[in-house]
Amino acid sequence: MHTIPFIPENAPFSHEQRSWLNGFLAGLYSQAPTATAVPADLPPSLKISVLYASQSGTAERLARKITKELKSRGHIPTLTSLEGYTPATLMAESYAILIASTYGDGDAPEAVRPFYEQLCLQHFPCAQNLNYAVLSLGDSSYEYFCKFGIDLDNKLASLAANRICERVDCDIDLDAAFTQWKSTLFSRLDDIVAARPARTAQSSSIPTSPNLPATRPQSPTHTRETPYLAPLVDKRALTCDISTKLTLHVAFNIADSGISYEAGDACGVIPQNDTHLVNEILNVLNFTGSVPVQLPKAGSTTLRDALLNHLQITRLTRKIIEAYATIGNCQTLFNLLVPEQQSHLEKYTYDRGLIDLLHDYPGVLREPADLVAMLPRLSPRLYSISSSPSAHAGEIHTTVAVVRYRSHNRERGGVCSTLIADRKNAGESLPIYIQPNKRFRLPSDSAAPIIMIGPGTGIAPFRSFLHERRALGHTGRNWLFFGERSAATDFLYRDELHAMHSDGHLNRLDLAFSRDQDRKIYVQDRMLEQASTLWQWLQDDASVYVCGDASRMAKDVDATLHTIAEQQGHLTREAAVEYVRQLKDQNRYHRDVY
Ligand SMILES: Cc1cc2nc3c(=O)[nH]c(=O)nc-3n(C[C@H](O)[C@H](O)[C@H](O)COP(=O)(O)OP(=O)(O)OC[C@H]3O[C@@H](n4cnc5c(N)ncnc54)[C@H](O)[C@@H]3O)c2cc1C
Ligand SMILES: NC(=O)c1ccc[n+]([C@@H]2O[C@H](COP(=O)([O-])OP(=O)(O)OC[C@H]3O[C@@H](n4cnc5c(N)ncnc54)[C@H](OP(=O)(O)O)[C@@H]3O)[C@@H](O)[C@H]2O)c1
Ligand SMILES: Cc1cc2nc3c(=O)[nH]c(=O)nc-3n(C[C@H](O)[C@H](O)[C@H](O)COP(=O)(O)O)c2cc1C
Repeated sequence: MHTIPFIPENAPFSHEQRSWLNGFLAGLYSQAPTATAVPADLPPSLKISVLYASQSGTAERLARKITKELKSRGHIPTLTSLEGYTPATLMAESYAILIASTYGDGDAPEAVRPFYEQLCLQHFPCAQNLNYAVLSLGDSSYEYFCKFGIDLDNKLASLAANRICERVDCDIDLDAAFTQWKSTLFSRLDDIVAARPARTAQSSSIPTSPNLPATRPQSPTHTRETPYLAPLVDKRALTCDISTKLTLHVAFNIADSGISYEAGDACGVIPQNDTHLVNEILNVLNFTGSVPVQLPKAGSTTLRDALLNHLQITRLTRKIIEAYATIGNCQTLFNLLVPEQQSHLEKYTYDRGLIDLLHDYPGVLREPADLVAMLPRLSPRLYSISSSPSAHAGEIHTTVAVVRYRSHNRERGGVCSTLIADRKNAGESLPIYIQPNKRFRLPSDSAAPIIMIGPGTGIAPFRSFLHERRALGHTGRNWLFFGERSAATDFLYRDELHAMHSDGHLNRLDLAFSRDQDRKIYVQDRMLEQASTLWQWLQDDASVYVCGDASRMAKDVDATLHTIAEQQGHLTREAAVEYVRQLKDQNRYHRDVY
């Protein structure tokens, strides 16, 4: 047994600093399971907070699974989103399981940022009573892989909280990692329960029912695992033939599906790779498509089916390169994987796919099983729903920008958007499910004004909002900022928007066509032009919604909102930051960006 060092009374620290450091040392020396802080005289089941930070629902789904299994193992779990949760509440927990996804440049999901900011800013001297475990979710094709989960784990450790088990960082193909983490976690929880003193007379009165409802039950009819094969009933271009881009209006029939959704939700589409590309890969490798292979989730299938429907073949990641280099013992690729070569690795993987790797480094793969094992799972793609459940009964509409580009002497296409554009026609079906987006809802007050900022495909949820408000008779004013490349070729839903503007349902419509003049004009330029009216709407309790490109647009629009608050509200920079923060706290600033 090891002794835990402590800071003596006469050390040159304040009382608070000393207790923080003592807690830190206690945490540092408590890696062994027996050192986990076990509250005495509690029954052999644990009250466990299952917390999730999720944007598109994966972390939430896993948290639900964990909660269910904890219950069946006799524990008392409660399931909560970190959105609106406070660090102080976390510090008061004895056991917390955190499942956290990463967004942006390695950030927390949008709605969870206030929680993390508070956790970092507030002074918590010590969290040594907290026993916790983190599962972080991410996608290794992003630069900051799983960074939020990693930061959260490190932050809690630095506050002297005790890790129940080591964090696991899951890539998009997360099933195996999740199962492994879960089994370690459960066995550590078993250790903790086994190490607890026998139940006392007093503690036996504590309710231990494993059947307490941990959360509102949710039983969606069709999920990512059990999607609905929805007939495509309409597909038409919203951009003109001569446009520099193609954006489609796509309608699915869901009349017989039992699917329901709310304005603001997204539609998940399970994609399929391009047959031509799959054939090319099989040819290059000299593999037969009918050869049987084993997939972790789908089980036994053919190699062709695995490449068409289950595996990601169009993007390269560090993990793929690592696996390929190892199979082929390929020194040139190993050289690319050293930390100093990170930018070269990123340059290589940025706009290449599996086919490029096979051409550039031939003769490596001899076994179909090696190919299958090195590729991540093909993930669903999300599309903001552009129809309204009240106005477009029995249908789901989406607004899809088709991704096409040329790189390394090859025409390339986005898997899902080109599937919809080129390989599926009206009358054929696609597997879909609803991805609820509880943070992106119309205001509960039907008379409240809304300001919607949605350039490009960002228009999608706002078409839904406008139709929904009209169908439900909401009296609140509606203001839309829309932008695209050119008015003549890219004015998505032009006639509908003009009609709603003419009849007064859309009170204001401000347009920014970026390429119709020498200087680029964007939605945020229009916001600035209308700053005083926009500020007035905010004083009238308007809610602000932003949807579309995350990498540049959403950041610039956010900066513009701060500028307007500074200029129109005569606020300092700090006060403007506080003002926008309050808008978020009041549920009046929502972003759905990708
Ligand atoms: C919550 C949410 C809502 C969304 N809503 C919508 C929506 O309403 N409408 C919509 O169209 N999309 C929407 N998206 C995006 C959508 O989910 C897909 O990401 C998009 O359609 C691309 O998918 P894909 O399979 O066609 O392309 P992928 O196969 O995923 O390929 C896209 C990748 O191609 C590469 N790439 C793209 N262009 C270039 C280029 N010029 N040069 C080099 N590489 C390039 C990039 O790596 C990019 O990540 C949303 C996403 C989220 C998360
Ligand atoms: N590779 C492709 O072929 C392709 C096609 C479609 C979409 N996409 C990607 O898919 C996502 C969504 O695309 P989308 O069709 O919805 O449209 P988008 O690319 O977001 O463009 C919509 C409008 O926003 C403008 N814009 C560009 N930068 C902006 C900024 N910083 N602030 C405000 N507006 C800005 C664009 O202008 P400018 O373009 O004139 O600068 C355009 O007028 C984007 O991330 C985009 O990169 C790729
Ligand atoms: C717009 C966007 C940005 C993302 N940024 C990152 C990132 O910076 N780092 C990372 O590891 N994963 C990133 N991801 C991947 C997600 O973290 C991953 O898909 C996760 O499983 C999503 O969990 P959720 O469904 O609970 O939100 C991003 C995903 C999206 C859609």
